[in-house]
Amino acid sequence: MAGVKLKQLEKQYPNGFKAVHGIDLDIQDGEFMVLVGPSGCAKSTTLRMVAGLESNTGGEIWIGDQCVNHLLPKDRGISMVFQNYALYPHMTTYQNMAFGLKNAGYEKAIIHQRVMDAAEKLELMGLLDRKPKEMSGGQCQRVAVGRAIVRKPDVFLFDEPLSNLDAKLRVSMRVSLMQLHRQLQEEGVSSTMIYVTHDQVEAMTMGDRICVMCEGRVMQVDTPINLYHYPANKFVAGFIGSPSMNLLLLDYHPDSASVSLTADYRMAIPASVRSHMQYYQGGKIWFGLRSEHIRIRHQASPSTVAATITNVERMGNEDLLHCHVGEHRLVVRAPSRPDWLPQINAQIFLELELQSVHLFDPDTEQALVQRKPDSKEHADPFTNQQEPSSGKLGPQTQQAAL
Ligand SMILES: Nc1ncnc2c1ncn2[C@@H]1O[C@H](COP(=O)(O)OP(=O)(O)O)[C@@H](O)[C@H]1O
Ligand SMILES: [Mg+2]
Repeated sequence: MAGVKLKQLEKQYPNGFKAVHGIDLDIQDGEFMVLVGPSGCAKSTTLRMVAGLESNTGGEIWIGDQCVNHLLPKDRGISMVFQNYALYPHMTTYQNMAFGLKNAGYEKAIIHQRVMDAAEKLELMGLLDRKPKEMSGGQCQRVAVGRAIVRKPDVFLFDEPLSNLDAKLRVSMRVSLMQLHRQLQEEGVSSTMIYVTHDQVEAMTMGDRICVMCEGRVMQVDTPINLYHYPANKFVAGFIGSPSMNLLLLDYHPDSASVSLTADYRMAIPASVRSHMQYYQGGKIWFGLRSEHIRIRHQASPSTVAATITNVERMGNEDLLHCHVGEHRLVVRAPSRPDWLPQINAQIFLELELQSVHLFDPDTEQALVQRKPDSKEHADPFTNQQEPSSGKLGPQTQQAAL
């Protein structure tokens, strides 16, 4: 059983390129932590340093109560699952899972028991005699996960394990991995998992908490729901959520506490938002609004602004309307209706729900609105009770609450 702590972790590659710039991260024992960010932001580098496959050139890595900076990968109590499965092609499923244990000198009976337990968990019983080339990608990936489980590591490391699978299989493997995590927790077995992905949907659906990374730095660490509702900066706001948050650089007028969307359409920032806003001088401001916080009206009114539809993505249950408003572009989410098919070039009118606006400093790109999850907006609609003030429940607490 072990948590993982990264303290000011750094990596400079031998060619001089600095990939990781001082990462601090505290992963609880039993937590499912996702590292997410665009390709090249150093997710793999960070994970490989935890595994010991890359050396860290600065900072410390702690697993449990031990600094593992100088330990070999095999002595760190970790198992890693890779995107390309990394199975031995000439070995059967059974042999692939047993290999590491055999090398480590375990008794035959113990190896057999562990392989059978893992095979049962991962529905591999019928595939024990197959070699990798006789199995599908999803089956191979389950074997790779099985090989990780049999070692009973303190910490599981996953580097984009589902990226090579087709979309449908990815979803079902996602659910299987989450079930596995719960099952290990219930069995009281170590279940700390660090899971790397570039896919924000995977991150949102799987993580107890998510660490959003950009260019070798941590942008924000929080629960999926807090990242979605309280992004700390423009990067997280744009990265988490699909479609991406609408982010427009607008003029802010401090005298009237309003922003101009077009030359003749000014929007007053509601007092409820302003009261959470740090002191701001005025000038340009990043204005962020999610597509579900824009309403479509078919008639103009003083609260609407005219927009032209430039593209329509039909999703079945809803349409994503790409619109031009003056010089700006907005994506608007509209429930699909049998009586209205949005047409390209049609004019519509939009009403923006400004109480849901996110505002970011134009220079630092940090959130100007410091709304905290303890405000009334976060009350539980079923019990009418508010969530605890920090919003940072530990994974166990969260599960106990479900
Ligand atoms: N061996 C290496 N030498 C120099 N630069 C590297 C090496 N490996 C990775 N990088 C660079 O480090 C950055 C982070 O890479 P990586 O950790 O693979 O990103 P991610 O997994 O987030 O896509 C990238 O800019 C990549 O080009
Ligand atoms: Mg990678």
